[in-house]
Amino acid sequence: MFDAVAPRYDLTNTVLALGRDRSWRAATVAAVGAAAGESVLDLAAGTGTSTVPLGVQGARVVGCDLSLGMLRAGRRRRPGLRLVAGDALALPFADGAFDAVTISFGLRNTTDPVAALAEIARVTRPGGRLVVCEFSAPSWPPFRRLYLGYLLGALPALSRLASSDPAAYDYLAESIRAWPDREHLAATIRGAGFATVAWRDLTGGIVVLHRAVRSGGVAGRDADGGADHTTTTRPPAPAGLTDTMATS
Ligand SMILES: C[S@@+](CC[C@H](N)C(=O)[O-])C[C@H]1O[C@@H](n2cnc3c(N)ncnc32)[C@H](O)[C@@H]1O
Repeated sequence: MFDAVAPRYDLTNTVLALGRDRSWRAATVAAVGAAAGESVLDLAAGTGTSTVPLGVQGARVVGCDLSLGMLRAGRRRRPGLRLVAGDALALPFADGAFDAVTISFGLRNTTDPVAALAEIARVTRPGGRLVVCEFSAPSWPPFRRLYLGYLLGALPALSRLASSDPAAYDYLAESIRAWPDREHLAATIRGAGFATVAWRDLTGGIVVLHRAVRSGGVAGRDADGGADHTTTTRPPAPAGLTDTMATS
């Protein structure tokens, strides 16, 4: 499916997200907080749009994706970017290889998100960070109704104008509706071997950012590069992560 949407993926994304995708990506990069010299995996990287900004502070970044079509489109556009083919369910990386792993709009697309999270945990070093950026449904009922109306009505119409494979976007609407709520996803992340799981709504909950720390390490930097904290208390809120943040 992603091979078919690859040629116009980035443009379609921006159109369907009504331009909000830039702010979602900026929030994800801030949550990862990749420092110079750190090793960072952007899983389900697609064309590398989510990968590039992770490296601006000097981190060593690699994007990994299952779709050769998406990777080819990414390589054409960003020849200097390190993009590798790989399956989230059987990653081609050693145990504990990364200081941070992030996945944007990709976990929902894997055939087995629980298995993918277990693989992510395997390649994240103890004490390393995980940031999951994923579509969700707004919690506030009136906005939720409006958004679900957009998903089922306007989004398919817009995708017919913008996408190289509009039918793929019918799947997008359905998969967002079927995606687990924030608490369930947090519990699944915790079950995969992460602690200090926190989440934050973006754009009223159209997108939710989950972050966590790989269990087994010494408490140190959290997923936002904030101060030390234990895994049982609410982490200090860094800039931009304030009252809508919940922890589990
Ligand atoms: C919606 S795109 C997101 C791309 C990019 N992260 C972004 O934010 O623009 C979802 C990506 O997940 C990839 N994907 C789906 N299943 C995968 C798997 N099992 N392993 C790796 N990538 C996968 C698809 O090929 C696709 O490129």
